[in-house]
Amino acid sequence: MSYSDQCEQKAAKAARWDQRFGADRDKWVFGRRPSCMAQQAASLWEELRPGESPVVLDLGCGEGRDSVWFASRGWEVTAVDISTEGLNKTKRLADEQSVVLKQVVHSDILDFLPSSDYDLVFAGSSLHGLGSYCMEYLHKLQVAAPPGCLHAIRMMSTAAEGPDDTAGLYRVAPGELLAKYDGWLMLDASENTIFIPRSGRYHSFSELIAQKR
Ligand SMILES: C[S@@+](CC[C@H](N)C(=O)[O-])C[C@H]1O[C@@H](n2cnc3c(N)ncnc32)[C@H](O)[C@@H]1O
Repeated sequence: MSYSDQCEQKAAKAARWDQRFGADRDKWVFGRRPSCMAQQAASLWEELRPGESPVVLDLGCGEGRDSVWFASRGWEVTAVDISTEGLNKTKRLADEQSVVLKQVVHSDILDFLPSSDYDLVFAGSSLHGLGSYCMEYLHKLQVAAPPGCLHAIRMMSTAAEGPDDTAGLYRVAPGELLAKYDGWLMLDASENTIFIPRSGRYHSFSELIAQKR
């Protein structure tokens, strides 16, 4: 794909999410409460490394429900997203709760280089948005992770029909994400399918929380 095609694709993706997040100023599309995976990741972290505060990277933070909740625990959080509208809501949610985020970064995930600076890398339903670059980027995240680092990853899978337009998405086959974490300590892994009223279709997800040995 040419450079200008890539730029166009990024702009189109950002515009789609901006439209969704910006449609109603006072409604958080995915809610203001933390996701189940965020709560599970936090409780596993606290069991595994009691008394330590992780440095958290939330890739594809959306409107900030998980970033803000992690930060409300006193954890240092970097929140990254391609959507300006999502990040505006992330900042508003943080302000409303008097929570400080270390960094709120407007970027394509692909341009945010993996590093060993993070103890908890969290990606809730965002990495499949990287399309054909998804698994290569995930590999780089894994290589960069220091021992003891937790990854909490939820990605769309091919188990159900999914959204009507899957162009540009990388959907994992059931079991593929788990296999990718071979050699890590698997703490929690599941495959699930949910009905999405908005699309009238079933979407499926592979999800895991794993610790680098
Ligand atoms: C389904 S939403 C999930 C948001 C959030 N993680 C949550 O669970 O509430 C997917 C998010 O990923 C972001 N996203 C998708 N592709 C991205 C990319 N290539 N770079 C940065 N953000 C991306 C979207 O803007 C959107 O905020």
